[in-house]
Amino acid sequence: MIKKLAVLISGNGSNLQAIINSTKSGILNGFAEIVVVISNNPQAYGLERAKKENIKTVALDSKNTETEKYDQQLYRAIKESDADLICLAGYLKKVPEKIVKEYKSRILNIHPALLPKYGGKGMYGHHVHEAVVKNKEKKSGATVHFADENYDTGNIILQQEVALEGGENHEEVARKVLLIEHEIFPKAIKKVIEDKEKNN
Ligand code: GRF
Repeated sequence: MIKKLAVLISGNGSNLQAIINSTKSGILNGFAEIVVVISNNPQAYGLERAKKENIKTVALDSKNTETEKYDQQLYRAIKESDADLICLAGYLKKVPEKIVKEYKSRILNIHPALLPKYGGKGMYGHHVHEAVVKNKEKKSGATVHFADENYDTGNIILQQEVALEGGENHEEVARKVLLIEHEIFPKAIKKVIEDKEKNN
């Protein structure tokens, strides 16, 4: 049975694009379909990526919406999509407790580092890679984990490393890690789908 994915974004949507590509002609083809793309940022380029594929989009505006109202809009958009799994793909806001509870072990988040290192509040995007460079790490990587009520603390689903030669700046590390993200997010989604089918 093809699983329905709700993908949440905040920006460029390159991880969304990786999932789109994988459902069309990669390992998610025949396993999953994206039924909605929801953004907290109405300007997110990821919304254009979804529209190109005729995927339903819901453009919310968390900056100009009172938190409780935004959380209700988000909850309603997810429920109406009838999604089986929620994929946080460069989504920068915390998921409301109500959604985390109702979708326990069904929310996947991609983080651009080897959790539990370089995770937690404030550790997103370039902040992560700057810390990795500052600490002269010999490797970095990406992690897909189940989202819970905190930032980046849920059980790890899949992780992949990338070697650093040393001397890279944070943008070069970001580029290397982003390629890993695009590789492992579809794999992690498929793993969760297969594990759920085994356990049912
Ligand atoms: C990237 O920094 C990525 O590491 C993180 O979110 C940011 C944007 O990703 N997951 P995307 O291009 O919007 O998917």
